[in-house]
Amino acid sequence: MDIQKLLSEMTLEEKLGQLTQLNAIFFKKDNTADITGPASKLHITEQDALLSGSVLNFIGAKDMKEIQDSAIAQQPHHIPLLFMQDVIHGYRTIYPIPLGMGCTFDEELVEDCARMAGKEAAVSGVHVTFSPMLDLVRDARWGRVMESTGEDPHLNGRLGAAFVRGYQGDDLKGKYDIAACVKHFAAYGAPEAGRDYNAVEMSEHALREYYLPGYRACVDEGVEMIMPSFNTVGGVPSTANKLLLDQILRREWGFDGIVISDYNAYREMVKHGLAETDKDAAELAMNAGCDIEMMSATTYLYAKQLLDEGKITMEQIDRAVLRVLELKDRMGLFENPYRAANEKEEAELHLCEEHRALVRRAAEEASVLLKNDGVLPFSKDLKKVAVIGPFAAEKGIKGFWACAGRDEDCVTVLSGVRQLLPDAEVATTPGCSWELGETEIPDLENAVELACEADAVILCLGEYQKHTGEGNSRATLTLSPAQMELARRVIDANKNTAVVLFNGRPLVITELAEIAPAILTVWQPGTEGGNAAARLLFGDANPCGKLSMTFPYTDGQCPIYYSHNSTGRPVKNPKEITQNGYCSRYMDAPVDPLYVFGHGLSYNTYTYDNLTLSTDVLHAGEELEVAVTVKNEGKYTGKEIVQLYIRDKFASVVRPVKELRDFAKIELDAGESAAVIFTLTEEDLKFHTASGAFAAETGDFEVMVGSSSDDVLKATFRFEK
Ligand code: GLC
Repeated sequence: MDIQKLLSEMTLEEKLGQLTQLNAIFFKKDNTADITGPASKLHITEQDALLSGSVLNFIGAKDMKEIQDSAIAQQPHHIPLLFMQDVIHGYRTIYPIPLGMGCTFDEELVEDCARMAGKEAAVSGVHVTFSPMLDLVRDARWGRVMESTGEDPHLNGRLGAAFVRGYQGDDLKGKYDIAACVKHFAAYGAPEAGRDYNAVEMSEHALREYYLPGYRACVDEGVEMIMPSFNTVGGVPSTANKLLLDQILRREWGFDGIVISDYNAYREMVKHGLAETDKDAAELAMNAGCDIEMMSATTYLYAKQLLDEGKITMEQIDRAVLRVLELKDRMGLFENPYRAANEKEEAELHLCEEHRALVRRAAEEASVLLKNDGVLPFSKDLKKVAVIGPFAAEKGIKGFWACAGRDEDCVTVLSGVRQLLPDAEVATTPGCSWELGETEIPDLENAVELACEADAVILCLGEYQKHTGEGNSRATLTLSPAQMELARRVIDANKNTAVVLFNGRPLVITELAEIAPAILTVWQPGTEGGNAAARLLFGDANPCGKLSMTFPYTDGQCPIYYSHNSTGRPVKNPKEITQNGYCSRYMDAPVDPLYVFGHGLSYNTYTYDNLTLSTDVLHAGEELEVAVTVKNEGKYTGKEIVQLYIRDKFASVVRPVKELRDFAKIELDAGESAAVIFTLTEEDLKFHTASGAFAAETGDFEVMVGSSSDDVLKATFRFEK
């Protein structure tokens, strides 16, 4: 398609339509809702809506084809729509929430899952996914931590790039490739008080050092789109933030893809108090560098006036429209507006055994064994098993952003255990509900009786999927009084109990960790969650996940993360409550969390020895090899995620006490040893210095290698520029 020629023939209204994205409801011929209802809220007519260039929130190939046919027929130049959707951790076959996928430390697995999700989405008519979300998260009170791969910039960057590769494949040339949209730019994960949509106030140093690298990794991987965040950064909403969208994204990073706003984010700038009117909002967003306006129509309505007033230019409009048309052209939509949409393939691919097997493996490797006093793995010869708790038979375990996924597709823990142990007697009762703050335990005595009679108890506790995600921040992170009382009584009745925790964030489980013999978090594990949990509990799979986000000891520690600064007055023992003294302590809690970033147990023990460096002075342009021997002392084959951290001991700005710089996931048979070798260069030592340069400085460094951020072997080296 000759895009430039097409652009030259389009009216201003057509161009503005291409910069407007509406919900599918605006396009459905048979829509039951009053189409003028939402249209009137946006102050546009039904005719205006038909000029829109892209659509979101539709489901299925049939839906898509109807909408596409209608739009092309009514568009003056028959321009096809771009179909976009939140395919966050699966389309119909759902894998664990991204916070769980972060615990896999597995780029290949993430890429495979994203590719599977993209394929399922593509045959259902999706062209673009609003994923991956690369918001760095350090505050478990924020509901959307579930959507992030965690608290570390290095881990997030590597996994974010893997998501982009999985979705976009070979530069969108593949039939099932879909465009990715990295979000929410920027620092949406750092809202004050952990409350969604709240202000983000931080230094530009912190922004650039910790919060931007994840998005940058996706831009460098060729992500097609980026979505600014709802929050303010430095007092300006990202949607109108020229530092973010123009200076950093376009000028420094050279991004020339599409910037698409978040849902109604243009008009929310009036509520923020930045724009006095919708027209001001359109002007601010256009001049900052936004291209597509999602679910509001201020550009469509006011661009003509703004042009006449000289407040925006036709070049800006044409540049934005060209980005949209070029993506449609590169995806072949002018020739084949359905692209991969295909009802037959949809029926064959969705929930097929190959996809179920992949998400089952993902759920196994995203799970983290937080504690195990030795009760796990359970024997498969058990005769009587009790599966107790509000999540024992709960199918709502797919997670908050599960797109076309359905609860009824999910395998519960109860089903998984019964399938794995067909000859065992597997009894169950919920004990109580999963409601927040629940105090009632209707069948507590029955639960205790089942526990008494059982050879082993699987106690399924946690946080329901709708209590996480967008808009669902929490001020307290503990389990309900009912769940805790149920846990006390059941564990008291049977010490051969393992807790399976369902959660969309790190919860405060400090008391549970004291009384439970074993705790396995499966996060919100997705379609195959129950089968994965059963296989892990009974040893058909060996836990290998490592925490992508810190579990606080108490709510009051939030935000809390491993790569913190030392402060000028660090406590001597962060694991204890420091009783007094002028130091950086709490009077009523330890400084350390309950479980640190990188923590995760296995049914094996892995020993680390012989940490050696190829040199103790690294010069610019050279490489430093870091080698360690890891041995599987256990009796099972298992995977271990070997982590490498560094500490820049003295620098022109204070540096964190440790920072992840590399990781390797290895598989070892029982008794097997392996040498794991990492390579460090000057690049790994760079940071935003006091002068604002991104550079490494001469000085002494610690290098740490181990199985968790607080279980490492240490060595030192010097870097000389
Ligand atoms: C939501 C979310 C964003 C999502 C968009 C479209 O409000 O903030 O992550 O992609 O709207 O659903």
